Amino acid sequence: MEKKLNLGSGCVIENVNVAKDHFVMSLLLTSICKDALPGQFVMIRKQGVKDPLLSRPLSLYGVYQTDAGTVLEFLYRVVGKGTWALSRLTGGDQVDILGPLGKPFEILPDRNHVILLAGGIGVAPLSYFAEYLAKDLDRPEERGEETASARKVSFYLGATTAAALVGIEKIERFCTEVRTSTDDGSAGFAGTVTELLQQDLAGLDHRNLCLYSCGPAAMIRSLSQLIESLDIPCQVSMEERMACGIGACLGCSIKVRDASLGWSYCQVCADGPVFDIKNLLWE
Ligand SMILES: Cc1cc2nc3c(=O)[nH]c(=O)nc-3n(C[C@H](O)[C@H](O)[C@H](O)COP(=O)(O)OP(=O)(O)OC[C@H]3O[C@@H](n4cnc5c(N)ncnc54)[C@H](O)[C@@H]3O)c2cc1C
Ligand code: FES
Repeated sequence: MEKKLNLGSGCVIENVNVAKDHFVMSLLLTSICKDALPGQFVMIRKQGVKDPLLSRPLSLYGVYQTDAGTVLEFLYRVVGKGTWALSRLTGGDQVDILGPLGKPFEILPDRNHVILLAGGIGVAPLSYFAEYLAKDLDRPEERGEETASARKVSFYLGATTAAALVGIEKIERFCTEVRTSTDDGSAGFAGTVTELLQQDLAGLDHRNLCLYSCGPAAMIRSLSQLIESLDIPCQVSMEERMACGIGACLGCSIKVRDASLGWSYCQVCADGPVFDIKNLLWE
């Protein structure tokens, strides 16, 4: 497939501190971008800044067409230099953007119960996916009450504590149900979000289910073990560290199954970030 790259700039509209170390930033693009899909990401950095030099990958959290142009939204957590620099941006600041990049989530039309499972900041791409599904943007010709209600979307969100459960208001607007868990039991189910899912899976018709997930590697790994013997399709978005974002530096390689070689390396930025969970190999 021919790769389409857009290197452009954006103007910060606002950059709101929504919880401790968490921000929602919205940007107005200088170009119209109509093909930004859930699961895709951009490489982003403040214009003219040399430290850090490299852009950082952020998933699309929202995409809106306005009279002024395309607005992109990002939900991000400050963990180091790059995200700290982003958190200092204010309205009117300019950013460099490369994207949208990567493979989006694939919608499976014959599976009517969609489960979105997020750990921590993994909520960002899945929240946009929930909005996309709720607005039936994948089937514009069928939009209407009947189709919207035919698809059930359950959002499972796990975090360390109640304070780290971010983005719930948006999810609640677009999902049929929201299930939460915290490691310390301060909100929702006490335990991991995969344990909560495991408990619920027992009462569900697996033939109608499809799963999408994003979160820390340990969570994806336990999800992979949980559904190993189950016939439930599952796509996961991997959040490896990235440098170039376009398959040039090989810095984001992961091991995947390969039908002829047994295993091979894939670049998360160019071949993903969305993968079939059954193709991932764990050391
Ligand atoms: C496809 C993709 C989409 C992403 N979407 C989002 C998003 O929507 N919101 C968001 O907050 N973050 C997202 N991330 C993660 C985000 O890119 C990193 O947190 C960011 O690059 C860290 O940069 P930094 O300079 O702030 O931290 P650094 O100084 O580079 O690192 C600080 C600490 O964070 C750890 N770290 C850095 N990157 C990662 C990573 N990818 N995974 C695990 N640990 C890491 C480092 O090991 C280090 O301990 C995404 C990553 C990818 C690959
Ligand atoms: S980040 Fe350079 S190859 Fe993926």
